[in-house]
Amino acid sequence: MHIAVINGPNLNLLGVREPERYGTSTLAQIEAALRDRARALGVQQVSWFQSNHEGALVDAVQGLAGAADGALVNAAAYTHTSVALRDAFLAVRVPFVEVHLTNVWAREEVRHRSLLADLALGVVAGFGADSYLLGLEALVGRLRRA
Ligand code: DQA
Repeated sequence: MHIAVINGPNLNLLGVREPERYGTSTLAQIEAALRDRARALGVQQVSWFQSNHEGALVDAVQGLAGAADGALVNAAAYTHTSVALRDAFLAVRVPFVEVHLTNVWAREEVRHRSLLADLALGVVAGFGADSYLLGLEALVGRLRRA
């Protein structure tokens, strides 16, 4: 099984970016924890991607077709704005779980809308770095039952 993880803008700054909100784990630490959990779950391959650029994220989603069995996606601010990312997920139809470190519905109204959530298997939000691990477990469980 190959799981791809796609991270959007400003997530490269985790650890220093608003730590009171996003926690002190860096994206590299989240990646390491996720790779450990994936190994424990028997996932053969994890690919990890982060970009601050919408087009690069669209390219990454297009690249999932035929390559990944499923994806974990934290599109960060593009979650709330990107029709292009939504269209890319509609095109590739790879099963994915949307994840967020924070509970976006407990924040400003602009973050309450996701252009991806209705396309996702489900959404995990509000558990900090654990959102990634919970999302991985849910995704792998669902793919194994499929
Ligand atoms: C985020 C929530 C988004 O609203 C925000 O723009 C982010 C991070 C999260 O993981 O909580 O950059 O996706």
